Amino acid sequence: MCGIVGYVGFRSVADILLDGLEQLEYRGYDSSGIAVKCDNDIKVYKAVGKLKNLREELKSHVKEFEKSTMGIGHIRWATHGAPTVLNAHPHTCTHGNLVLVHNGIIENYKELRAELEKEGCVFKSQTDTEVAAHFIAKKYDETHDLTEAVRLASKEIEGAYALCVMHNDYKDTIVATKRNAPLLVGIGEGEYLIASDVPAIIKYTKKAMYLSENQIVTVTPDSMKLIDKDGNEVQPKIELLPWEPVALSKMGYKHFMLKEIHEQPDVIRNILVGKLHTAAEPVILDEVKLTKDTLKKLTRIQIIACGTSLHAAMVGKYLLETFCGIAVDVEASSEYIYRRTVTDEHTLVIGVSQSGETADTLTAIKQAKARGSHILIITNRPDSSMAREADSLLSVNAGIEVSVAATKSYIAQLMAFYLLALYMAEIKGSTDKSIIQSIKNELMILPQKIEQVLANTDEIQKCARKYSNTKDFIYIARGINLPTALEGALKLKEISYINATGYAAGELKHGPIAMLDDTMPVLSILMKGIVYDKLLSNSEEAKARNARMIALTNSNDPKLEDLFECIIRVPEVQEFLSPIIAVIPLQLIAYYIAEFLGKDVDQPRNLAKSVTVE
Ligand code: AGP
Repeated sequence: MCGIVGYVGFRSVADILLDGLEQLEYRGYDSSGIAVKCDNDIKVYKAVGKLKNLREELKSHVKEFEKSTMGIGHIRWATHGAPTVLNAHPHTCTHGNLVLVHNGIIENYKELRAELEKEGCVFKSQTDTEVAAHFIAKKYDETHDLTEAVRLASKEIEGAYALCVMHNDYKDTIVATKRNAPLLVGIGEGEYLIASDVPAIIKYTKKAMYLSENQIVTVTPDSMKLIDKDGNEVQPKIELLPWEPVALSKMGYKHFMLKEIHEQPDVIRNILVGKLHTAAEPVILDEVKLTKDTLKKLTRIQIIACGTSLHAAMVGKYLLETFCGIAVDVEASSEYIYRRTVTDEHTLVIGVSQSGETADTLTAIKQAKARGSHILIITNRPDSSMAREADSLLSVNAGIEVSVAATKSYIAQLMAFYLLALYMAEIKGSTDKSIIQSIKNELMILPQKIEQVLANTDEIQKCARKYSNTKDFIYIARGINLPTALEGALKLKEISYINATGYAAGELKHGPIAMLDDTMPVLSILMKGIVYDKLLSNSEEAKARNARMIALTNSNDPKLEDLFECIIRVPEVQEFLSPIIAVIPLQLIAYYIAEFLGKDVDQPRNLAKSVTVE
């Protein structure tokens, strides 16, 4: 994780760096810092905590840097060393002449550090990053060329990195490089910006170049030179970013999370545009580049993802198996990459990721691609590293998601899976047309049904208040809503820090039931359908152990009144579509509990929106 920004040009650099870091705050927010070139010196300023602390810190130093037009900045999510001022970036070499910021993890930092310490380098932090500062400085002392120093050092640095480097000998030059971490260069008139992600530069330019692996770029206000790892000059591939600068506003909502939850009906409408016209017409998914013939013959799909995206993938498995009759495996990307997987050119591999930058998923995708599989990426970021690996790219268009807790991107990913499953089923002829049509009809009216849930949150708020002091929370479900239970629990734990767990209800009696007593809330996701009665029995079993029972249901079954102390109702939908409607109250329960508890809803502790380290 971590976000980096660099600027060289004619504008006052501190404002640009701070603005850029603010746009990258989703990548981490435990400390931040900037380094700016001032006359004969490079000055470094750092602060622990949110970016506002750095802004505060800088107020008393404005005179020192107000004329500076070159600098680099960093926002951190700690991996090596606690979030302290000493561990915050930028880091410097022993004599302070070379300064850099880094995103990623340097895996051989211990060996390099031991070597450099023997040679007399004095380390000030516990980070892996500081090694790069000393190591590049060493190469600079040998070559007196900053680009060459970065190139030579990166040959020996192992791991993932995006680096932005300045040296005191250069009054207007920044050198940057990357391996397995995103980095792009924004190209302006008489200025260049370097950043981990588009939002940090889009206010200034739409013209940009994404760095490829191991490339090294050197920028001054009026020049840009790109070389590969062997020092050969490379022609930059300049593109126009399909982005508009967006003022990230909460639009009157108290938190981005609440705003994003309320955007979900429109997210559904957006994704359907151009793909689903009427129930009678086939789903159009031109994004899927597999031929119809190959699709018909597919026998295996693997879906890889992390966190919330993994839960969407689990619903995807259910849909693809049910409607297309294809065996689907779902796996956490971090588990997929360190074992021998049976993946080959006959396997369709689907990567799901809001950010398109999650390191584990990106690595897994690259591995599958190397084995010849067709790669379909479902992402909210069509300009991301994963999107660039895709053979087929399904962009979910949920709009920027600011809150660390994913909500609208989950709904968008679910929609992508419904469309994909229906599209494939229609090609294969593997599901009865009338079933497909009824699902399509309901998909089109789902936004209104979600609006009904969002318009009346009294019961949800009451329930959230009632259980906000609990230490533990259990969610149970079966079938297509098991992922909903897992997602509800994930939402609650990540923003309220309550120990929440989702279980397949049938598994309760195989162990977890031992935890139940009159202090334990158990939320049962009781959607009408084939597992309704079974889940009702599982709920009875929990009730018999005195658990505090909550129902999330679309049923008016009178039996529920005796069994549950709190009942949250959602409009009726067919079971196949129930994960879309059932997750909304769960997002809201998590939100309201965190809000009652006074937690930092949009930026919960220890988390970052984009997890770019393995
Ligand atoms: C969701 O609320 C989380 N913040 C997290 O689990 C997230 O879904 C996960 O890190 C995967 O991110 P991605 O979708 O960007 O790959």
